[in-house]
Amino acid sequence: MAEAVREGDAEEISLAEVGLRFEVDGEIATITLARPEKRNAQTFGTWSALARIGDDLPQQVRVVVVQGEGPSFSAGIDLRMFTPEGVPGQGSFASTATLGGEAFDARIAQAQRGFMWLRRPDIVSIAAVQGHAVGAGFQLALACDLRILADDARLCMKEPALGLVPDLTGTKPLVDLVGLSRAVEICLTARTVGAEEAARIGLAELVVAPGDLAQAVRDLAAALLATDRDAATATKRLLQGASGRTLEEQCAAERREQMARITALFG
Ligand code: CAA
Repeated sequence: MAEAVREGDAEEISLAEVGLRFEVDGEIATITLARPEKRNAQTFGTWSALARIGDDLPQQVRVVVVQGEGPSFSAGIDLRMFTPEGVPGQGSFASTATLGGEAFDARIAQAQRGFMWLRRPDIVSIAAVQGHAVGAGFQLALACDLRILADDARLCMKEPALGLVPDLTGTKPLVDLVGLSRAVEICLTARTVGAEEAARIGLAELVVAPGDLAQAVRDLAAALLATDRDAATATKRLLQGASGRTLEEQCAAERREQMARITALFG
């Protein structure tokens, strides 16, 4: 279990210090953004911690739930990151920019690493979203395979309104889910998308009353765990690769995966 995280090559920061909790119950891991008094705002430390959780994920885990404590899923980047002082021990965007091209790139890549692993084929990640999911919060929800929303969920890609671009792996899944035109409209107006619309345009698998969110996540996790693990992994791999392949290539990929399954089951 990931009990501590390393920020760059600086000193170790505990999960609690960056406002995260990580719990494993059998095949289900739960990551909780646990700084409700600051609406679960995220820092470089949060993203490094997420990357470490991914690195150290216990082998038995098949479902990863990402949730936020309190009224909001996450209000996005901690706005202190935009001040010259930044977040104590973590610097700021301004100080990161002065590191120069390569170091700046590495810092953002490290932040993205915290989001990337949530797509791994051997797990299914579920974002449980209530209240606001702004900027980095929306992108964290987009990093997950599936999204269950409470009916008070409010999604907003606020970065362009702040002079920034969404850079935490969110642009591709957004386009994949809602199409280019809708993604342009959502991002470039930085408007808020409510839960009902989110479900309608493909940003959510399910919308439930806030009081039913936890149970809905448990039910989905149970249904996901009912399938064979190796078949689920192979199927997710196939589905993830589908948009980048021709039909013929996809058919060939299906044959390869099925051959491996049949060999494992009956060979
Ligand atoms: N960073 C730091 N602190 C935050 C925060 C944030 N992003 N969002 C909220 N807080 C703090 C508030 O300052 C406040 O703290 P105090 O009690 O100490 O004053 C506390 O959390 C509660 O905030 P609100 O009273 O505003 O809570 P609310 O429930 O009424 O509103 C909200 C919630 C609509 C999310 C509102 O807090 C808000 O708009 N927050 C800012 C959202 C934002 O602009 N985020 C940046 C997105 S861009 C991004 O994320 C960039 C990127 O990836 C590169």
